[in-house]
Amino acid sequence: MENISVNSLGHLTFCGMDTLSVARDFGTPLYVMDEVSVRKECRKFKDSITEYYDGKGLVCYASKALCCVYMCRLIAEEGLGLDVSSAGEIYTALKAGFDPEKIVFHGNFKTDAELDYALENKIGRIEADGFGELRRLAALAAAKGVTANVLLRVKPGVDAHTHEFIQTGQIDSKFGVALENGEAFAAVKEALSYGSISLKCLGCHIGSQIFEIEPFCHTAEIMLEFAAKIKNELGYEVPELNLGGGFGIKYTQVDTPADTAECIKAVSARVKAKCKELGLDVPFIMLEPGRKIVGDKGLTLYTVGEVKEIPNVRTYVIADGGMTDNPRYMLYQAEYEVINASRADKPKDSTVTVCGRTCESGDKIGEGLKLQQTVPGDILAVLSTGAYNYSMSSNYNRIPKPAAVFIKDNRIITAVRRQTLDDVISNDVL
Ligand code: LLP
Repeated sequence: MENISVNSLGHLTFCGMDTLSVARDFGTPLYVMDEVSVRKECRKFKDSITEYYDGKGLVCYASKALCCVYMCRLIAEEGLGLDVSSAGEIYTALKAGFDPEKIVFHGNFKTDAELDYALENKIGRIEADGFGELRRLAALAAAKGVTANVLLRVKPGVDAHTHEFIQTGQIDSKFGVALENGEAFAAVKEALSYGSISLKCLGCHIGSQIFEIEPFCHTAEIMLEFAAKIKNELGYEVPELNLGGGFGIKYTQVDTPADTAECIKAVSARVKAKCKELGLDVPFIMLEPGRKIVGDKGLTLYTVGEVKEIPNVRTYVIADGGMTDNPRYMLYQAEYEVINASRADKPKDSTVTVCGRTCESGDKIGEGLKLQQTVPGDILAVLSTGAYNYSMSSNYNRIPKPAAVFIKDNRIITAVRRQTLDDVISNDVL
């Protein structure tokens, strides 16, 4: 992670601020974001599209990674678009004043009410994830007397999550329509038959936390071959191509993600070359990075409540948060680097399990973690928790959700305030 260091007191600093002071002033658990680095990453994406793709594209931040009004406003200020996947995310974006024309609405099932809401608010692109959704969308748009600008989600048959990515197996996915069995082509044909639908875009998303560049290039080529088939057989050139997100970040030392600019440079070159080969116009391109924009730009601070040493078994360092604010170890055995922020100048000479406080044995942040000697009252920093932490948090055990703050120019801005006990019961009918 960038912008972390150790000060003369031996405390971990983040963006030049003593994390112990931040924890004292804002409480723990606390999500802390580095706003300057988030903005820098946004610009990297945008500038790369300008430099390597002649600006003919839109980078849409995948808001599921971290969604709040503050974040949507920041993304709008940076001139990016937004990928949303529920009415809740649309509502958040609209509250932030986000231009609806730059929003792409995804999801493998959107209710009629959500589709209606998207049409009503003139959301720029609405994804059709299958035949059923296409038909519902066509009917809803027709009933409103409007045209829905549609993105058709295609399963390109690329599985990027294998050692050597492969081109099979992906037909078994709940997302989209498959290329290989003719479903996608039939869906395009049907989409073109509806007066209330304008097929603007072919879209795909091949996975998340991908380190290599080649799967993106290869997928782009497959999608363009499909676009060429549509052009040749149906006489329609789909003007846009959405390649989804999935750009990996470094959680621990073993992770080796590709550089954003390098990736866009390579994809742009391959898209242009393939279009030339196939006789297609170069499409307007969309990318949807989520994790890459925020993941390694934030950390979580916890206070250690107890340390439980079980001789010959293991040592539990018990934090005042856990699965309720970061369920990723539980869900994916995700690995994180953890630092004792109170003793960051000391060697990591103990091996511990950092666990949470809920009534679940599996409530862990990590096992076999190297950590400095730790005692109750110490502050822990779990690095690279900017993505899919706050957005996947829960109120299990009726634990209030933490606050999220952004550091910018030596100032700390509260983007999401800490929940109170009254917030926890706010939907209960008294
Ligand atoms: N576009 C679409 C259509 C997606 O489904 C996703 C993520 C993205 C973009 C953004 O992907 P990213 O650039 O962030 O990898 N909860 C999991 C990640 C689930 C990703 C789901 N879709 C995690 O914590 O690792």
